[in-house]
Amino acid sequence: MRIGSLEFGRHPLFLAPMEDVSDPPFRILCKRYGADLLYTEFISSGGLVYDAQDSVQKLDIYEEERPIGIQLFGGDVEQVREAAAVVDRANPDLIDINFGCPVRKVVCKDGGAGILRNLPKMLEITEAVIEGATRPVTVKTRLGWNDESIRIIEVARMLEEAGIAALAVHARTRSQMYRGTARWEWLRRIREEGVRDIPLIGNGDATDAVKIRDMFAETGVDAVMIGRGAIGNPWIFRETKAWLETGEKMDPPSWEERLAVVAEHLALKCEWLGERKGVLEMRRQYGGYFKGFRNAGSLRAALMEQDTLPGALETLLNFEERAPYVRVPVRSLASRRKVAARPVSPRRVRAAAMESVASAPTRPGARE
Ligand SMILES: Cc1cc2nc3c(=O)[nH]c(=O)nc-3n(C[C@H](O)[C@H](O)[C@H](O)COP(=O)(O)O)c2cc1C
Repeated sequence: MRIGSLEFGRHPLFLAPMEDVSDPPFRILCKRYGADLLYTEFISSGGLVYDAQDSVQKLDIYEEERPIGIQLFGGDVEQVREAAAVVDRANPDLIDINFGCPVRKVVCKDGGAGILRNLPKMLEITEAVIEGATRPVTVKTRLGWNDESIRIIEVARMLEEAGIAALAVHARTRSQMYRGTARWEWLRRIREEGVRDIPLIGNGDATDAVKIRDMFAETGVDAVMIGRGAIGNPWIFRETKAWLETGEKMDPPSWEERLAVVAEHLALKCEWLGERKGVLEMRRQYGGYFKGFRNAGSLRAALMEQDTLPGALETLLNFEERAPYVRVPVRSLASRRKVAARPVSPRRVRAAAMESVASAPTRPGARE
């Protein structure tokens, strides 16, 4: 299947955009284990236009991550248009628009899934991004606002007509948030009655190799996007590929491999966010990595007490006397090639121009 000029093989597996999860350290690990397409977490178009540091930082992508999409959200057409131009300059392989986030503070401003209540504006935002982008534009959305307003078939046709290059659908409504089960029967309907020539990316509850294979088989989607199943489990891509290709279950990673990857994730997080923030943010990831492991509770408890990188690494790698010591060859982010310098927002360009006008000599030679 293809998205624009990007060619994917059969049964491609994509890493879902996930706030505070799909950052460069985690994406690099998922790529290593077989993710075919990565997405950044969603980035606020307002944040990019106003040059907010945390939004601009999220634009950082690395050559080895390609192909990668940068995801944008916002409910103000002009702001999204400006932000799309900033994202375009960051040089991703595609730009994805988030029309699926269910969080109140996002939807109340027509961002994320909020736009499912205003389809003409959804079309306007999509067209604005397409106009400003020099690369494929994709959309990720939900089935509808609630059960009474599932209009995904209409949405799929409208967005394909507008020129998007692929559509990803989380098979829940906004009202469902993350509750209940994803309604895969809708994915089949979108495949059959909604999109015509563009790929459909299925998402929602495809959380292990068996379910992912079932989603492909039951719905006919062209690719599966994996979210929660990858948290603390970047190996899901490798295991699913083996299951799809051979029908055989792969052994889960050994304890040594698991510890080595957690340590690498931790070290990269610290490089990415700074030591203190990296160690603290990583605390949220341990649960996923050690789920179901004997003694993991005491390891997690010990890790929670650490607030330095050497302390956390020491705790991790020397856990349990019988656990073998693991040497971790961590390749830093600094040694990886960045795709582009962080683009400058239009606001900063304007501010710089105003400043130079204000400080310019009032008549030629006045300053000399
Ligand atoms: C922690 C977390 C953060 C998320 N952040 C985003 C996001 O930034 N953009 C987005 O489109 N969806 C986001 N989602 C939704 C996921 O991309 C995905 O649609 C959802 O989790 C369903 O897929 P799953 O069942 O495979 O997890 C997030 C989900 C989680 C659990």
